[in-house]
Amino acid sequence: MNKVNIILIGFMGSGKSSLGKWMSANAGFGFLDTDEYIEEKEKRTINEIFAADGEEYFRNLETGTVRELTGELENTVISVGGGLPIREENQVNLKKLGKVIYLRAKPETLIERLKGDESRPLLKGGNLEDKINSLMSARSEIYEKAADIIVDTDGLTLEYIYNDIENKLITLL
Ligand code: S3P
Repeated sequence: MNKVNIILIGFMGSGKSSLGKWMSANAGFGFLDTDEYIEEKEKRTINEIFAADGEEYFRNLETGTVRELTGELENTVISVGGGLPIREENQVNLKKLGKVIYLRAKPETLIERLKGDESRPLLKGGNLEDKINSLMSARSEIYEKAADIIVDTDGLTLEYIYNDIENKLITLL
């Protein structure tokens, strides 16, 4: 793939960070994760940010991050937090930053991957399956609309998903 930033969007547990790291190790891309970027800048975890300042504060940090990154990166895979594409402004800026890929995964896959996870404030307490289903039904159309390309990921290897992205990108570039 030639110089282009790849933005990975999708639900928590859809494999954005794993694929981003794989592409960085195997396909010559840089890698940036917006959650890690925010945690480093704030010097506290996402859980701590939500607990002390709430979700809206975190969403403002996400919007600020996308603004900051626009025009600053080249040949980098950017894995973005699962809720970041919800704001319209972020959708517009993500498209300026690079090609936006939605890593689509079925709720069953996500439930398996997110069982026992303690790092995501939105999934804490209550029934995990219900939370995933209701967030997913509120978000799936947003992800589809925000994306240039959609790839299905259930049961597929990182290499297979990367090749699928590459083939679909060729038709866009
Ligand atoms: C969130 C997803 C998380 C993180 C935060 C909120 C969301 O990122 O940004 O916990 O609203 O879906 P990952 O998608 O990397 O887990």
